[in-house]
Amino acid sequence: MDLEVGSVQEEALEQVARAQSLPELEQVRVAYLGRKGKLTQLLRQMGELPPEERPRRGAQVNEAKRRVEEALEARRRELAQAEEERRLAAERLDVTLPGWRPALGHRHPVSLAMDEILRFFTGLGYEAVEGPEVETDYYNFEALNIPPDHPARDMQDTFYLQGELLLRTHTSPGQIHTMEACRPPVRVVVPGRVYRRDADATHSPMFHQVEGLLVDRRVTLGDLKGTLIAFVRAIFGQDRKVRFRPSYFPFTEPSAEMDVACWVCDGAGCRLCGGEGWIEILGCGMVHPRVLEMVGYDPQEVSGFAFGMGVERVAMLKYAVSDIRLFFENDQRFLASFPAYLVEPPQPGSPTLQEEVGA
Ligand code: PHE
Repeated sequence: MDLEVGSVQEEALEQVARAQSLPELEQVRVAYLGRKGKLTQLLRQMGELPPEERPRRGAQVNEAKRRVEEALEARRRELAQAEEERRLAAERLDVTLPGWRPALGHRHPVSLAMDEILRFFTGLGYEAVEGPEVETDYYNFEALNIPPDHPARDMQDTFYLQGELLLRTHTSPGQIHTMEACRPPVRVVVPGRVYRRDADATHSPMFHQVEGLLVDRRVTLGDLKGTLIAFVRAIFGQDRKVRFRPSYFPFTEPSAEMDVACWVCDGAGCRLCGGEGWIEILGCGMVHPRVLEMVGYDPQEVSGFAFGMGVERVAMLKYAVSDIRLFFENDQRFLASFPAYLVEPPQPGSPTLQEEVGA
């Protein structure tokens, strides 16, 4: 082989072997086999040789081209495979990494308090029933012996809708629906939302109540007190102080309000309880004979007691919350402070709320 052809071939093969990427390899190809490449030039220069040397020289250059092309193709395959391996390594998924933990929600403190209240009373044999949130004047006021000039009917306190309709201001209409639908003995709790035109640190225009009603033969005020004291002990602990204060409701006689000792000062008086030492959580009393008559019960034969408690008030006392508005602002930092109650499974005997009385 001519010295010149041999050294160009050597040089080309060496550069092919040294190319580290496909673009680099392409540069090598162009430098030797491209239109101005070194081997291509050698073929062109053949015209300058004497005719008898041309075939030998032609065969040599063609042989060199063939070798270089072969080497290029082999190196191309090597580099393509290495590149593929690098890509696969870079994109590899580590299936042993721990997964994302789904963010679990929290039960709302009002729901927690509501569940606890209902669980206590259904445990005593009360049935949980629901009534409509849009009521007539009759069920919300008249059947509860609330006279037309009673301040509770004031436009200032009540959301009136069209005609006779209004948003219920308490769950007590549930008493009337229940007694219209059933004969004594009756034992129900009626959970639900109620509405009043009222808003400050301890009042919200929408809040929750649980009504309770028990009617049977010879039901006494002692039964009422015993039931509610047992309730407070179950919810707030054995040592929590309770007191009954005489009060007035048109639909109960006698009537009382029940206070629980303030969680901050335990009865001494502080800012939270407005210096009272006590926080009111419910109204109660013996069902008024006129209410019993209005639903067709005989007050000579049966008697009963009723109570209506504010669920947010219970939650404030139980979870030490000082402003009712925190329950409705849905600030995640507040709601997330109830972690101990994550996803509570339903308990055996937990109440079903499907049944609607008179709706
Ligand atoms: N309905 C009364 C209220 O909303 C509470 C109550 C219920 C009082 C039952 C006596 C008996 O304040």
